[in-house]
Amino acid sequence: MQYAESRDARELPDNEFLADVILGLSQDQKTLSPKYFYDQQGSEYFDEICDLQEYYPYRTELAMLPTVAQDLGNYFTGNAPRGLEIVEFGAGSLRKVGALLRSLQNVRSFTAIDISEAHLISACRVLESQYRELSIHPCVHDFTKPLSLHPSERTRLGFFPGSTIGNFTPQQASVFLRNAGTTLGTGSFLLIGVDTQKPPTILNQAYNDPKGITAKFNKNVLERINRELDGNFKLHNFAHHAFYNETVGRIEMHLRSLKEQQVNIAGHTIEFSRGESIHTENSYKFKPDDFTELARQSGWVKHHLWLDSDKLFAVYLLQYAH
Ligand code: AVJ
Repeated sequence: MQYAESRDARELPDNEFLADVILGLSQDQKTLSPKYFYDQQGSEYFDEICDLQEYYPYRTELAMLPTVAQDLGNYFTGNAPRGLEIVEFGAGSLRKVGALLRSLQNVRSFTAIDISEAHLISACRVLESQYRELSIHPCVHDFTKPLSLHPSERTRLGFFPGSTIGNFTPQQASVFLRNAGTTLGTGSFLLIGVDTQKPPTILNQAYNDPKGITAKFNKNVLERINRELDGNFKLHNFAHHAFYNETVGRIEMHLRSLKEQQVNIAGHTIEFSRGESIHTENSYKFKPDDFTELARQSGWVKHHLWLDSDKLFAVYLLQYAH
């Protein structure tokens, strides 16, 4: 296993996490970026979320992938003379790429980009033992930032499953798509999973599971601040709050202060009034036509769209045309 080139940037400097946290908690609407959910503990909670019946995006997309992969196999046979390189953004536990590797015969290399180093490396080790002929490149990187990859002769297929793109505002999503196009190169492909708009009850249940795993996942960011930035958040003084904001088409997750309180983080004092919230995540849901248009405006042409029979989830094959 060989680290991909951006290895040097592999650790987020502590001061960047601290600076982001202090800046975010100094706004009128306090915010923390969802990318900070994913330390080792948070990545494990997220895997538990994916196993929940209420959390339909994971299981729905996973069930679609064998069909998607078969269609891709037909498309790329004879269409990728030097083989394929898959580049996964936000690879996490790598539970999805296997479906592609099983159906696509000509994948030669796999670059896995993720912000959580320990989690990424252990996931790559597992994959390596299953696909011995595949050359695997873990790349510890924050994919909200541009990245340049080693040059490649192979046809690149970006893979961005799970509707992670929904964490971005549409404007940020457009920037991400442009950057991904630059990273992968003109003519490259992107297979991207995007959650659809649907009745609020289904959405609200998916982010308010009765076992409280999503609540733990949400609160973990406070624990992480306590652990890594010498914070003193008392977790029982905050409540998980997630709801579908229908006007903008997004789930919002917040952590709501249950009382007036002060919290210290690395020598900074943050004041909370009772009921005040920290906005920790947006998860946008897209109508297929709207997402296709967003992609088009960001340089990507739609080749194909797969939807499950209940239209719960969409997977798009896009090509970067510039
Ligand atoms: C990983 C961003 C796709 O938005 O559904 C799951 C994260 N948050 N439950 C999502 C998440 C709460 C997830 N993404």
